[in-house]
Amino acid sequence: MLRIFLTVSVLFWNQLAAQNVIEEALKVCEQTDCLKPTEIIKDKSYIEMKVEFHRRVEAEVHAVNFKSAMEIGLKKLFNYSRCGNVAGTIIPVSSPWGVFGYLENDKIQQKFRVFVEIVPEVMNPPEPKDPTVKIVKGPPVWYYTRNFDKKVDEKQIEERVIQLLKDLEQDNQPFNRTFFVIGISNTHGQMGVVFQKTGE
Ligand SMILES: *[C@@H]1O[C@H](CO)[C@@H](O)[C@H](O)[C@H]1NC(C)=O
Ligand SMILES: *[C@@H]1O[C@H](CO)[C@@H](O)[C@H](O)[C@H]1NC(C)=O
Repeated sequence: MLRIFLTVSVLFWNQLAAQNVIEEALKVCEQTDCLKPTEIIKDKSYIEMKVEFHRRVEAEVHAVNFKSAMEIGLKKLFNYSRCGNVAGTIIPVSSPWGVFGYLENDKIQQKFRVFVEIVPEVMNPPEPKDPTVKIVKGPPVWYYTRNFDKKVDEKQIEERVIQLLKDLEQDNQPFNRTFFVIGISNTHGQMGVVFQKTGE
């Protein structure tokens, strides 16, 4: 996922552009509190990257699409962050935020897990009061990701998910095709479409 920021459209993708984008992403990360990938492989129209242990807070949401899932979910997550937890305290969160979505026969299901990262300084995040909200410990994991920098609509996001899935399949990559992640890095539309690599 998570912290790669793209300056080009995938239509104009080439390796040189990809490298510039990664460098730009890491620069942005130096300025903000960021979950950075620790390893990056960039020889395709998507990136392979490793993210180390991290914690996030998630809300499970049933909704017709990403947009309404995000609206419902982020409200709950910000409530958690603003004292909606058993410690009654403020828990700082950071980008990326986004959704886990599920695929069945390449159709996006109406069930999502909306998430936001908890900053690493918070070692033991308190439990949420809302039973539909959970703290999740993310183990070190490899992802395949393709990044974008323009705001797009629901249908375009769906197309990007399916396109990455097809490209990974075509390259015979080992990945889990039952779920994907949309990771959003800022409010200007920088986002990554992500599948998890399997068998590491
Ligand atoms: C925030 O969470 C608390 C505890 O779950 C709940 O009582 C309160 O209604 C929530 N507030 C909002 C605005 O959702
Ligand atoms: C793929 O992900 C789903 C949902 O997390 C999980 O239940 C399943 O075991 C995973 N499959 C593989 C092959 O890793």
